[in-house]
Amino acid sequence: MIEFAQKFSAEAGSIREVRTRLAHVMEQVEAQLAKLLEDEDLLLAKVYRPLQRQSGKRLRPLLVLLSAECFTDDLSQAIKVGACAEMVHNASLIHDDVVDRSSLRRGMATLNSTWGNKIAVLAGDSIFTRALDLLIDQKSFRLLKSMTYMFSQMCDGEILQVLNYYNADVTVEDYIERIKRKTALFLAFCAEAGAVVGGASEEEIQALANFGLNVGLAFQVADDLLDFVGDESTVGKPVCSDLREGNVTLPVIHALQTASGPQIRAIIEADEITEQDVEVILELLNKEQSLDYAYSVAQRYVEQAISCLDVIPPSPAKKDLIRIAQYALHRRY
Ligand code: IPE
Ligand code: IPE
Ligand code: MG
Ligand code: MG
Repeated sequence: MIEFAQKFSAEAGSIREVRTRLAHVMEQVEAQLAKLLEDEDLLLAKVYRPLQRQSGKRLRPLLVLLSAECFTDDLSQAIKVGACAEMVHNASLIHDDVVDRSSLRRGMATLNSTWGNKIAVLAGDSIFTRALDLLIDQKSFRLLKSMTYMFSQMCDGEILQVLNYYNADVTVEDYIERIKRKTALFLAFCAEAGAVVGGASEEEIQALANFGLNVGLAFQVADDLLDFVGDESTVGKPVCSDLREGNVTLPVIHALQTASGPQIRAIIEADEITEQDVEVILELLNKEQSLDYAYSVAQRYVEQAISCLDVIPPSPAKKDLIRIAQYALHRRY
């Protein structure tokens, strides 16, 4: 297990260079985000202000900015769209933590654990709408339409996941469809939106959207792997939580098709997964090389993502998009 976890600590697991090069632009994204979370009402400020400290990787605004930068030097629109994307992401995480009954996010207590589900649901809705305002300011119906499509797909992906809890018959295709909806289409939106505000051609916009989609698929497979091999203090959220919730992810789907399948099926179909069950499944995943399988699937998506960029001329931004694609898989949190 330790050996496998090292795959996530490789040098490629860093996007420091990207962050450094874009530091001045990201500062402007941060300023927008701070403004969105401001509230004059002192009680409401108590709810929203702690969220400013939970910063996360900021992958979505980075994607919007880099994608725009492939086509323009003027990033003023991309900054607003990037801030919107990050805010929408934050709203979705607040709701996701309610759904997943999670108490830890970005190394800090979740809104639901501090304030309860009622406030978390309402705060998520409020933040989502504050974010949409930024997109409305852009007066782009195209981006608004892409955003509403993406968000409905995300919610439906989450619903499909809940409907399939403890389902040992879930196929690889079902899983990929689910993570496409819940995660990958959002990253596709970010890359597409960047290209749109950057003034790219339709062919280039489509290439960037496909790039984002493939990065997103790799990103969620990696996230599901980190749930098994990550370290809670690094990942900043509870590990082995998918299994405990009954969420059957790619490594388990693979192992279900091996000689260990019947043993794993019996555990999953018992509908309640104990700590001991988690240990047993982890051992079987190792034995059946199911983690390596999932890793190789994600690797293929990274390669596909990078090949989508063939139509884009070389530039520092393109180089950084390639770094982001690799980071999606090799990250440690
Ligand atoms: C978490 O997204 C939810 C998934 C889609 C796996 P991130 O891993 O981008 O979360 P932050 O923003 O860095 O916390
Ligand atoms: C990702 O779901 C969150 C959304 C797509 C809304 P997960 O439940 O897999 O992500 P984490 O592990 O809580 O970040
Ligand atoms: Mg979750
Ligand atoms: Mg979830």
